[in-house]
Amino acid sequence: MAKTISIDMREFEFDAGETVLSVAKRNGIFIPTLCYHEALKPYGACRLCLVEVLEGDKPGLHASCLLSAKQGLVVLTVSDLVLKVRGVLIQLLLKRYPKEKSLMDIAKACGIEDSISTLTGEHQEKACLLCGRCVRACEEMGRSVIGFVSRGSERAVDAPIGSHKECLGCRACENVCPTGVVRFSLHDGVIKNDLWDITVDMAVCPICGRSFATVPLIDKVKTELEALSEAISMCPACRRAELLKRICV
Ligand code: FES
Repeated sequence: MAKTISIDMREFEFDAGETVLSVAKRNGIFIPTLCYHEALKPYGACRLCLVEVLEGDKPGLHASCLLSAKQGLVVLTVSDLVLKVRGVLIQLLLKRYPKEKSLMDIAKACGIEDSISTLTGEHQEKACLLCGRCVRACEEMGRSVIGFVSRGSERAVDAPIGSHKECLGCRACENVCPTGVVRFSLHDGVIKNDLWDITVDMAVCPICGRSFATVPLIDKVKTELEALSEAISMCPACRRAELLKRICV
């Protein structure tokens, strides 16, 4: 028999390994998110996706992006407690980034327009919300070139000196940024990111002369293909071990 959880008093089936957020999204139930991105491992930093567990292992508030769906779990996405805490979290973010467009969209979707109309400030429309998506994308898909630096109001994402030249130019950070503040632009055979002062050379097609990918990215793929062609002559267990070793270097 299919396993089910209850979300907002309705029963939904779930697949093994699914989170409550995933079940909710799949069934058209809105839960706001900021640090979550479907291409990344969930992280649970922003807490905007909080839901209230009424019945289950641990009743109370939980980040739905980290909460595993389990048979018999009963959760509410819009209880009084959820709405109160969610509202406070969004207002705190809005105070810090009063003109940030993606944040305003979240606030509107959550019915917190009143807070927006009272906001003042000269902040940028595109700001880093410190959601950490770019940092995790670089860890999971790139080379961990960027990370959090400083504390408190000085906290930011940056590329420490020396790590700049490690950037693959894969642009995964740009793709997962919710505000558009992380951007690369193409100039004269290089891609540049002014936020972190990163420059990566573009490779040129030897046939037509077009730039189509970065040099380090092509080098990485070449290394992986070489490892793959050597591994063909190995048994499956050694092949797997050897490939992991080389690809993870
Ligand atoms: S989206 Fe779940 S904690 Fe940020």
